[in-house]
Amino acid sequence: MSRQQLRIAVIGAGLSGLACAYRLQQAGYAVTVFEKSRGVGGRMSTRRVSDEPDNEAADYWQCDHGAQYFTARDPEFVRQTNQWLAAGVISVWSPTLHSFGVKPDGQSTQSAGVTRFVGVPGMTAPVRHLASDLSVRLQSRVIAVSKQAQHWMLTIEDDSALAGPFDQMVFALPAQQVNDLLAASAEVPAAFVNAARQSTQQHPLSPCWALMLDYKEKLPVSFDAAFVNAPADAPILRDHTASAQLSWIARDSSKPGRPAGEIWVLHASTAWTHAHLEDEQQQVFHSMLGAFNSLTGVDTERYHPRSWRLHRWRYAQALQTNNTPGFIWHAGSGLGVCGDWLNKGRVEGAWLSGYQLAQALISGYRY
Ligand code: FAD
Ligand code: NAI
Repeated sequence: MSRQQLRIAVIGAGLSGLACAYRLQQAGYAVTVFEKSRGVGGRMSTRRVSDEPDNEAADYWQCDHGAQYFTARDPEFVRQTNQWLAAGVISVWSPTLHSFGVKPDGQSTQSAGVTRFVGVPGMTAPVRHLASDLSVRLQSRVIAVSKQAQHWMLTIEDDSALAGPFDQMVFALPAQQVNDLLAASAEVPAAFVNAARQSTQQHPLSPCWALMLDYKEKLPVSFDAAFVNAPADAPILRDHTASAQLSWIARDSSKPGRPAGEIWVLHASTAWTHAHLEDEQQQVFHSMLGAFNSLTGVDTERYHPRSWRLHRWRYAQALQTNNTPGFIWHAGSGLGVCGDWLNKGRVEGAWLSGYQLAQALISGYRY
């Protein structure tokens, strides 16, 4: 069979999976993407909230609750970014930016010269753009993979028929989810399982609580976004100061192409999220809102959100470590892994991991 006729399953329709799928389809592969959620994007996500869900004509508000913006440094990703700009699915965001405290690595917090991009009208837009010509099966959670007559088959939750056959398969998932899926699967060669397990154990993703707030009127806050750095010597788990609870706050409605409104998003710090992962939503809401008010000095009597949503990201943030290559490919079994955690974390790393894995397959790379 020529390489061009190979059938490939990509598990996960986040940016890494779609970047991989898109490049492979361009090269002539027959690609099917499987995604557990109702939409594509993964951690590049925009929540659309209606407080009257049964009334389609009711007002809604929206908020990016995962990735906030991205930067582009690698020439290949700069090229992709320029294509998205030309297609009108991203735009430059130039927030009035503040920094509480000092960056943990002690490096400069001067952001002059940094170009930050956001999806338009929401962070999901560039990912949707990639997905538009791809075959994506939504609401299809893969719960196991297996081998039948030299081909890979997928077991999908609540579906009695196996999906397949596929010649090759890509896991485009956070590290812990790759591990879970491999643990539930049969006939996966030990060499691949061991390579994947070693990487996934080295790169666990940390969690993040995200609080989205909808205000009736503009808050008297002079900046649009702020990095929140805890004091370097803070005993974080016992420290209830605002700067130990939060890591990032932003006026989402200051991003280009958003509906009018006053929408804020708050991200909790990794340490605080770890310590409060199983807390009740009301508790998390009050704690994070209190930290926000205390940091910004917003008058709590006068300004209170009219609506809010919380999202718990169990697998949010990867370590920014440098792997070479930033993907896993096992030519013998036709199995690969991509994801931000294999390539320095962040949006750019996710795209590069997926794209570089596809290039490796196309060029016949063997590991
Ligand atoms: P994901 O986006 O996690 O994609 C994995 C996909 O697989 C998901 O769609 C998931 O639903 C699906 N899936 C999982 N299990 C299964 C299964 N069994 N079957 C089928 N589908 C499955 N990066 C930046 O550059 N800038 C930022 O400002 C920034 N802020 C962030 C803030 C937060 C709170 C979070 C959570 C992330 C942030 N990031 C940021 C990181 C950025 O979002 C990620 O690096 C990038 O989106 C990861 O893409 P991915 O494809 O590797 O993984
Ligand atoms: P970036 O905005 O982080 O880097 C560009 C410049 O911003 C830096 O050179 C520095 O001047 C400034 N900066 C960055 N972090 C700062 C801080 N803590 N305090 C003060 N100034 C700071 O852009 P990049 O490299 O694309 O990173 C994207 C952002 O996404 C990072 O800030 C990262 O923390 C965040 N992120 C958050 C996740 C989460 O789960 N909350 C997951 C993954 C990324």
